[in-house]
Amino acid sequence: MPPPAGHGGGAALLEQLARNSTPYHDPLARVDWEALSLDAFWLPPRAISLHGDPRFEALPEAQRRGLSQHEFVGFIAAGLWLEGIFMERIARGLRRPPHDLARTGYLLHELREECGHSLMFLELMRRSGLGLVDERYWRARALNLLARVAPADSALFWACVLIGEEVPDRLNRFLRRHRGEICPAIADIATAHAIDEARHIAHAREVVERRLGAMPVWRRRALVPLLQLALRQFVGLFCYPGPAVYEAAGLRPGRVWAERARANPARRAFVAELLGTALRSLRLFGLELRP
Ligand SMILES: [Fe+2]
Ligand SMILES: [Fe+2]
Repeated sequence: MPPPAGHGGGAALLEQLARNSTPYHDPLARVDWEALSLDAFWLPPRAISLHGDPRFEALPEAQRRGLSQHEFVGFIAAGLWLEGIFMERIARGLRRPPHDLARTGYLLHELREECGHSLMFLELMRRSGLGLVDERYWRARALNLLARVAPADSALFWACVLIGEEVPDRLNRFLRRHRGEICPAIADIATAHAIDEARHIAHAREVVERRLGAMPVWRRRALVPLLQLALRQFVGLFCYPGPAVYEAAGLRPGRVWAERARANPARRAFVAELLGTALRSLRLFGLELRP
């Protein structure tokens, strides 16, 4: 006979999260697509990578607005890539018999929700007509390798998931707090994502805590360099757009503007805010990473 449902630990949380995921709310239906407009900012000014840079601030508003839209589509690209990896890993786990019913059930809820987010992202890209110009995620060697080979269900894998969920979630929450400054459909997208993500993050934190708790201190320490590498590459991609994004917004040469964003003190401060929660969570579990 298989072990009882939820024998893998955290059963009460899994059941509670699964209850909260029912009934399913389709993100595609949560967005007022008719409100999507290129005449509005898609990111609040402070969330634009060049905010505060005098050469950027001197540009006409239409161009600054255009960059906010292309940068937002860049975040959407990150979402598609991250969720693709996560959905693949969940689906791979389904090739084994479902001995832990509560856990398998909850992961299927996450799969359904991530799939809904990805459909929402694709719909935004289709309606925006802006195209996918930033394909660096799919070529990021270290991150893609780590995502493929980190053992399923390991502390390493789930700590990476935690970073990949907490950092974008901080941005979504920032967008919601400043919804008056951006296109309403974009605020809807941030809201639909943040609602589901709160459950995903609670789950990832619980798994990381449980896996690390079962680990000797030396093994925990051994994870830090790998996580630090993953964090650095992820932040480089997610928080600092590639030259193609600036070029698409008419800021040429894109390479020069990308370097300006990297040197921009206001951007660095904003990125530190985005990273704060993820780093605090990991520190609580004994994993000390540098921003
Ligand atoms: Fe998601
Ligand atoms: Fe998620």
